[in-house]
Amino acid sequence: MKRIVFVWYFLSYCKVSICLRVVGVSVPPFKQRGESATLTCDYELEGGKLYSVKWYRDHEEFYRFMPKLRPPQRAHSLDGVTVDLDKSTARRVHLKDLSLKSRGLYRCEVSKEAPSFHSAQAEAFMEVYFFPRESPRINGHERAYAEQEPLDVNCSSAGSFPAPDLQWHIDGQKVTERSWLISYSARSVHQGLVVSTLGLRAPAKPLMQLRCIATLGTHQRERTVVIETNTSSVMKAFGLFSLIPVVVNIRIYDKIL
Ligand SMILES: *[C@@H]1O[C@H](CO)[C@@H](O)[C@H](O)[C@H]1NC(C)=O
Ligand SMILES: *[C@@H]1O[C@H](CO)[C@@H](O)[C@H](O)[C@H]1NC(C)=O
Repeated sequence: MKRIVFVWYFLSYCKVSICLRVVGVSVPPFKQRGESATLTCDYELEGGKLYSVKWYRDHEEFYRFMPKLRPPQRAHSLDGVTVDLDKSTARRVHLKDLSLKSRGLYRCEVSKEAPSFHSAQAEAFMEVYFFPRESPRINGHERAYAEQEPLDVNCSSAGSFPAPDLQWHIDGQKVTERSWLISYSARSVHQGLVVSTLGLRAPAKPLMQLRCIATLGTHQRERTVVIETNTSSVMKAFGLFSLIPVVVNIRIYDKIL
């Protein structure tokens, strides 16, 4: 008899309401290595009492909050997941000292007490990136090129994660001509970081300004160099000589006036 009442209660309760709802899980989508992150789990119990809140990274539990435990919090360290218990509660968990290994799918699972033991969950991905302060490096611009000779220039990002996007600009104009660009596959360096490289094979012009821009999320680093052809030094010398008489002429003219 007792059992029938129990089952009836369970069914009718769950029919008229959703029993328990995880309204949303909020996980920062992008975090920089070394930062900390607060992950929140919003739920509505819709009557009844909280039994537990558990957090998982890629299916491995790292934090639980159970009101019946003394203390109610337990943390279990995973590689890249270090919980700050003082800043964690039944609705949020605070992770400190993020590393590239902290990236993953974070899931919160909420359960209610007997009799329902109903549970609900939600998950979201957190990517951890690293973008150093160093500007990208440009190679191959130091030598003199003949006019119209294809450049043999590379731009390489500093070690980052994930691989940054690279762009070339010539005299302020983004290079879109595909035959001028050579994409090399990203190269792994130390500590899980990678280097992106993009080659530029545009025909050389006298005095051209080359800029390489590395982008990762909302961050950018860039470097600018100037290419000279063996005709541009001749032009520069000519430019200098032709400038002086012009200046002198203007001065004389001023005085006469
Ligand atoms: C450009 O990068 C590629 C791939 O790393 C390399 O083979 C080539 O020698 C580089 N060229 C220059 C000019 O640095
Ligand atoms: C520039 O260099 C190219 C090849 O390196 C050469 O053929 C050409 O004569 C040079 N031009 C001048 C003006 O020095």
